[in-house]
Amino acid sequence: MSKSQERRRLVDDAISDIRHIMASGPSVENLEKGRARLIELAAQREYFTFEDFPLPTDDALECSYLIHEYDDGSYSLYVNAGASHQYYAPHDHGDAWAIIAGVRGRECHQLYLKRRDDEPGEGPLVHKGELIVAPGTAVTMQPDGIHEVNAMDGQPLLHLHLYAHNFVLQGERCKYDLEKGEAQRFTLDELGSISDAR
Ligand SMILES: [Fe+2]
Repeated sequence: MSKSQERRRLVDDAISDIRHIMASGPSVENLEKGRARLIELAAQREYFTFEDFPLPTDDALECSYLIHEYDDGSYSLYVNAGASHQYYAPHDHGDAWAIIAGVRGRECHQLYLKRRDDEPGEGPLVHKGELIVAPGTAVTMQPDGIHEVNAMDGQPLLHLHLYAHNFVLQGERCKYDLEKGEAQRFTLDELGSISDAR
């Protein structure tokens, strides 16, 4: 079996397991179990290299490679090869839950939720915590989750990003300018290249 066939088998098995886990919905408990299974896949580091998934050659923030989704666009798994200067302002993923597992390099995630009308404080978001995604770790986001992502250590990144459904189906998304305290449109063309690598 070739390396790419073996990778496909590993990916198909992992996503099939995660779909089974997530069948009753994106509860905290299910996302935790899904997180553990995606970390297991990400630990197969020899199948997720910069050789197979090259970094941008221009000043783009990242190259995304779609390596799995079902026919309806669900359970979309991307390998993201991110430049050392990768930074994304706080943004949502439509109504998609997400699991992001580290393979190479470290990135810092600031996690937010939209501020409810009855919540004290100012600005559109409430900061909920900080997590570092690195080899052996992963972050999960509920469908209403918002994150801000920053590459660390001046090093490039290679991480696995699994979403309930693909970027196209995530539709028009929001990003947030925390200084101005306002929400803005976040469009697909703000991402680097997205290629089908299935
Ligand atoms: Fe994101």
